[in-house]
Amino acid sequence: MTVNRSLSNVIVLISGSGSNLQSLIDNADDIGIKIECVISNKADAFGLERAKKAGILTKFISHTQYDSRESFDNALTQHINTFNPKLILLAGFMRILSADFINAFTGKIINIHPALLPKFKGLNTHQRAIDAGEKYAGATVHFVTNELDSGAIILQKSITIKATDDAESLAKKVLEQEHILYPEAIKKILLS
Ligand code: GRF
Repeated sequence: MTVNRSLSNVIVLISGSGSNLQSLIDNADDIGIKIECVISNKADAFGLERAKKAGILTKFISHTQYDSRESFDNALTQHINTFNPKLILLAGFMRILSADFINAFTGKIINIHPALLPKFKGLNTHQRAIDAGEKYAGATVHFVTNELDSGAIILQKSITIKATDDAESLAKKVLEQEHILYPEAIKKILLS
C-alpha cells in the first residue's frame, strides 16, 4: 500500500563538496523532503553542480560582498524567507551564523558535525580525536543554537578508531556514516 505523505520543504546551505547534500538529494523521497533551494557562500562549491544536476534551484550569496556578518546573514534570511521552509539544513556550511539569523529560525536549523558531540566541537575534529586517544569517532546531527555545536542532539553514529587510522582515513570513514546519518535524522525529526 502506498502511503501519501506531503513533502516538507527545506533549504540546504553549503560551502563545498556537498557529499551530504548529495545524500539528501538521493534520499529526499524517503526522508519526505523537497529541497527548494541550495545556497552557497562559495561560487565554486561543487555542491552547486550537484544541485543543478538534480534540477534544484541554486543561489550563490558571497559573504565577501557584505561588510559584516549580520548584513550577510540578513541577505541569507531574506532569500530563505521567500521559500518559507520547514527546515534549514547545514551541510558543510563553513560560516558561523549570527544570533539574529538563528533567532529568526529557532528550532528549524539543523547541522551535521563530524564528531561525537559534545566532544570535539569546532574544526579539525578527527586529528583531535586521534590525539586524545579516543576509541570511537563519529558524527552528530543536532539543532543549531547560539552556542557553537551545542544544540540538542537528534542522532549520532559512531565507528571504531583503529590504530592505523590517521585524520584522513578517519574523515573518509566518518563521512560515509554521515551520508547514512543525515537522512535518518531528518526523517526522524519530520516524523516526530
Ligand atoms: C562534513 O564532514 C560535515 O560533517 C561537516 O562538513 C563536512 C561537509 O562535507 N559539517 P560535504 O560538503 O557534505 O562533503
